[in-house]
Amino acid sequence: MRFHIITLFPNMFESYLGDSILKRAQDAKKVSFFFYNPRDESRDKWKRVDDRPYGGGPGMVMTVDPIIRAVDKAKKKITRYKKTKVKTILFSPGGTLFSNETARAVTTKKYTDIVLICGRYEGIDARVEKILKAEPVSIGNYVLTGGELPAMVIIDAISRHIEGVLGNTASPEENRVSSHEIYTRPETYTHKKKKFKVPEVLLSGDHKKIDAWKLDPKNTLAKGKK
Ligand code: ADE
Repeated sequence: MRFHIITLFPNMFESYLGDSILKRAQDAKKVSFFFYNPRDESRDKWKRVDDRPYGGGPGMVMTVDPIIRAVDKAKKKITRYKKTKVKTILFSPGGTLFSNETARAVTTKKYTDIVLICGRYEGIDARVEKILKAEPVSIGNYVLTGGELPAMVIIDAISRHIEGVLGNTASPEENRVSSHEIYTRPETYTHKKKKFKVPEVLLSGDHKKIDAWKLDPKNTLAKGKK
């Protein structure tokens, strides 16, 4: 899967995408990332990419033209590949809430290229969404300073559903019997003279009992969903 990221701050992505699982996924050609900076596309003498909002209000708004030009560049790149299916997402705190189901759907629906538009300042001129028929997406009910963190969040959540990204031994935890409560060695950890033990059942070797324990709402992922 190819991610095309429209951002004024491509450096923000370097450390997160350049390490650990996402780095390995890139090396294995499971995912790739391309950056397009609206600032490079600005036709303004001073390379401005924002302006004051019509009707008044605080802060600045990202202008249409540099973003459309940056997305055009991404689309031009995409046309070089065969058999593509493109999804365009625009980050906004008012967008549809992103979920694990959405992450999985992106891979099962066989999208090849995802264009991610990261806003800054007070947001992006509403005409960008209309022109590109982009899907506004939010990652939660809080307002961030820009779309860069949301972009990294959904890149991470989508990538782990791509076959081979998590390696042979791992699989997305939602596909197996899983619990929030996981343990590793030692069996007993002593903190300030108090002993913290691994639940007995997990040491029993009885996989029926272990699965039942993991499925118990007290211990499972379902707990977090309620
Ligand atoms: N931009 C600012 N806050 C955001 C959020 N919570 N989700 C997506 N994009 C955003």
